[in-house]
Amino acid sequence: VWASTPQAPADPIFALTAGYQADSFENKVNLGVGAYRDNEGKPFVLPVVRKAKQILAADESLDHEYLPIAGLPAFVKATGKLIFGADSPAIKEDRVVSIQTISGTGANHYGGAFLERFYEPWLGKSKADKVIYVSNPTWANHKAIFNSVGLTPVDYPYYDPSTIGLALPKFLDFLRSAPQQSVFLLHACAHNPTGVDPTRDQWEEIAAIFKERGHFAFFDCAYQGFASGDLDNDAWAVRHFVSQQIPLLVCQSYAKNAGLYGERIGALNLVATHAGSSPGGAERLRSQLLILQRQEISNPPTFGARIVGMILNDEAMFGEWKRDIGTMAGRIIAMRERLHDLLVNELKTPAPGPNGWDHVVKQIGMFTFTGLTPPQCKAMVERGHVYMTGNGRISMAGINDGNVEYVAQCFDKAVRG
Ligand code: LMR
Repeated sequence: VWASTPQAPADPIFALTAGYQADSFENKVNLGVGAYRDNEGKPFVLPVVRKAKQILAADESLDHEYLPIAGLPAFVKATGKLIFGADSPAIKEDRVVSIQTISGTGANHYGGAFLERFYEPWLGKSKADKVIYVSNPTWANHKAIFNSVGLTPVDYPYYDPSTIGLALPKFLDFLRSAPQQSVFLLHACAHNPTGVDPTRDQWEEIAAIFKERGHFAFFDCAYQGFASGDLDNDAWAVRHFVSQQIPLLVCQSYAKNAGLYGERIGALNLVATHAGSSPGGAERLRSQLLILQRQEISNPPTFGARIVGMILNDEAMFGEWKRDIGTMAGRIIAMRERLHDLLVNELKTPAPGPNGWDHVVKQIGMFTFTGLTPPQCKAMVERGHVYMTGNGRISMAGINDGNVEYVAQCFDKAVRG
């Protein structure tokens, strides 16, 4: 009965991790998966997470019962405030509907499935007409997730390889000429894989077209805090869109900013037109999200929600978390500067774009889109044992004081051929 099942390709990101683990070369470096590492190259358990775990371990009142379908109430109530801001009009007016998800992947999945079922401009349409526009390029998993819930992902211009920066005019033209009420996936901050984010002025231009055309903003926010080291700053684009009353949803992940990769803790936040249960109201949306959750996983898992719920609701722990995020973001920025310095001043490595290697310091968040060609990326992996994706993305979090010189030398060799 399985004879016609074809062999699927390995996941491009996790296959790199497997290749790295199997490699016996002493100086191997993993710049593939976007997972933070400390300056010794080790996974980092945030001190505030360690503290939360100790508190949970000592609390004998905790049991192992099911959570409510929407998730741990303390977490669900606080997560929307983190992204929208406590004084957001959407929060104050009870228009935000949040549900705990299996990290950002689960949030994207539900966001897509919810639109597929209920987004009015799509009612009665076929899969081919339920188009979600995604940046070219985007996170390797976005298209697969949207395809799996009956949507058709289509690229919009975002990255300009000739400048290793934002293709703003093309992006804006595309927004203007897309059919009204189109759905666009936007990376809220720290764009994956390019590290290229619009400036605030550019976000304002983008938002103005969304408003004019009635487009829907599907925000994926997997790196809040990682772009600038500041949680509020990194939520600016989302908050601006809310202030402009643009219809939107936001997917959140606590994998990166809380270092909770394996706990799969995230949220989907929908903004309703008003509170209550009349058409378009928050209660109706919530009731349908609960159905979706029940069909997929019944109830979400407890552990990560307890940790993040505690951090978000305790002022002192929240302050500690912000400092921990600053530690991670700061180390990444320092590595950007060091790598840039080695390439430009020490090795004088020929640059892939017109602006030298400036993109290494200008790009934002966990990733640098290096501008290396696919053969150069292949050389990095095969000759240098430096694992990176074939599109030229490197995770800056994998670079540290102990390997930055080696990585720079591998760049130099790969570029010079
Ligand atoms: C990445 O882009 O490397 C991370 O978001 C991990 C993943 O799930 O792909």
